[in-house]
Amino acid sequence: MARRGRRAVSVIVLLGAPGAGKGTQAEVLRDRLGLPHVATGDLFRTAFREGTELGREAQRFMAAGQLVPDDITIGMLRERLAAPDAAAGAILDGFPRTAAQAAALDELLLDRATAVDAALLIDVPAEDLVLRLAGRWICEAAGHVYHEVTNPPREAGRCDLDGSRLIQRADDEATTVRARLASQLPALEEVVDHYERAGRLRRVDGRLPIAAVSEALLVALGAESRS
Ligand code: AP5
Ligand code: MG
Repeated sequence: MARRGRRAVSVIVLLGAPGAGKGTQAEVLRDRLGLPHVATGDLFRTAFREGTELGREAQRFMAAGQLVPDDITIGMLRERLAAPDAAAGAILDGFPRTAAQAAALDELLLDRATAVDAALLIDVPAEDLVLRLAGRWICEAAGHVYHEVTNPPREAGRCDLDGSRLIQRADDEATTVRARLASQLPALEEVVDHYERAGRLRRVDGRLPIAAVSEALLVALGAESRS
């Protein structure tokens, strides 16, 4: 889709707990704003599928529900943002995840004479997250996200967008989900504080249906569609 509703926003950070809907909403914002969707989790999963050293290293942490160390993550993100398609900015999904990553992002953007325009927190209570992750299916080809109850594909087991097979993520297994929530929620609080102090934080109720969350995010960005 064309850059409908595009304003002078270049770097948008999507914040939220595991399962809050960051990936789902990043796809919508990408289409509406014409900025690339950069998800550190997706970059790690791709690196692992490709059998790279970085992918293997990251996978050890992901499988345990732990955050991948900052030096690995920041290096990878820096490289991704240097790609030509990110010259005008990006929608960051899953980065930053720690206070150190938030500070590194500020520094990296300062070098480009820019800054994070908005940090959008998709707020979902912990009890809803487990159900969302247990029912999530993603497509094998591109990671397009579905949910067996709230966002089912048109044909069971097939991606609406590219027809590839739907699979479940290994880290959505119940024990790993509990580990992810326990280890990652405190770090999320620090990142939220970082952007609150900078006056960049906008909170959106992530319990609403997917389309209503999208609309609320666009309103928060001042880029709501009038359709
Ligand atoms: P990552 O892939 O980023 O996983 P995550 O943060 O745990 O988030 P998820 O992808 O699980 O959830 P989401 O918020 O994208 O929700 P989704 O849209 O899919 O990271 C994976 C791992 O990589 C981490 O655990 C860590 O090890 C490592 N990692 C990544 N980044 C890192 C970093 N910066 N530093 C260190 N380590 C890092 O939606 C979830 C489900 O809910 C779907 O089924 C969806 O259909 C459904 N849904 C979405 N919205 C709604 C709604 N409004 N109502 C009802 N259902 C909904
Ligand atoms: Mg995601």
